[in-house]
Amino acid sequence: MKVIVCKDYAEMSAKSAEIVADVMKKKPNAVLGLATGSTPEGMYAKLAEMNKAGEIDFSQVTTVNLDEYYPISPDNDQSYRYFMNKNLFDKVNIDKTHTHVPQGSAADGEAEAKRYEAFVRSLGGADIQVLGIGRNGHIAFNEPDTELVPATHITSLTEDTIDANARFFASAADVPTKALTMGMGTILSAKKIIILANGKGKHDAVMQMLKGTVTTSCPASFLNLHDDVVLVCDEACYNG
Ligand code: F6R
Repeated sequence: MKVIVCKDYAEMSAKSAEIVADVMKKKPNAVLGLATGSTPEGMYAKLAEMNKAGEIDFSQVTTVNLDEYYPISPDNDQSYRYFMNKNLFDKVNIDKTHTHVPQGSAADGEAEAKRYEAFVRSLGGADIQVLGIGRNGHIAFNEPDTELVPATHITSLTEDTIDANARFFASAADVPTKALTMGMGTILSAKKIIILANGKGKHDAVMQMLKGTVTTSCPASFLNLHDDVVLVCDEACYNG
């Protein structure tokens, strides 16, 4: 795994945007695999800036997001679809019909997981997949466990995650208890992967991943099975 240590969050965002932009310049109809969360927000802002300046073009790009709550409506401001529209899609010249997030409003979640997996595979996987990492080493909604799932699937959120999310919803009953997520195999089907991490809180998970071994107790460690992975992190994360 290649490691790029940046001074701070701003530099991490600029560097990762540059890596994504490079893929787009080489392949105008690239498939971008995207993540939500606080980590990539700066990178999305940078990509929107580059698009506005005419340096990159999204008109032929297709996107596939990692995950979505289930069940959730796309216009709920806590949905990952809403996050992507707000942080990137509404700010660039992308054709929205080419942007894909697992459908949290699908009537049959299992069928939606199957459909999404087949769709990502039909694209030949992402040309570049952007990832964040959880403090416990999770990627997408693949949490540490005794077993990990290869394909897109429905997973139950941990009590911790449900409690942490409760404040964002009108009532506890509105908090989704499940999520649709790409599996480890779906993520590893990307041709190139960049994983972003900033802040001290991610230090332990990142160090476990950088050991170079593979363990289901740190799903991000499975990235060691892929030949083209770049970690872009800040000094606070790297030095702990
Ligand atoms: C988001 C996702 C999550 C986040 C991770 C880190 O689509 O799949 O795995 O990447 O939870 O979240 P932040 O960036 O908020 O620290």
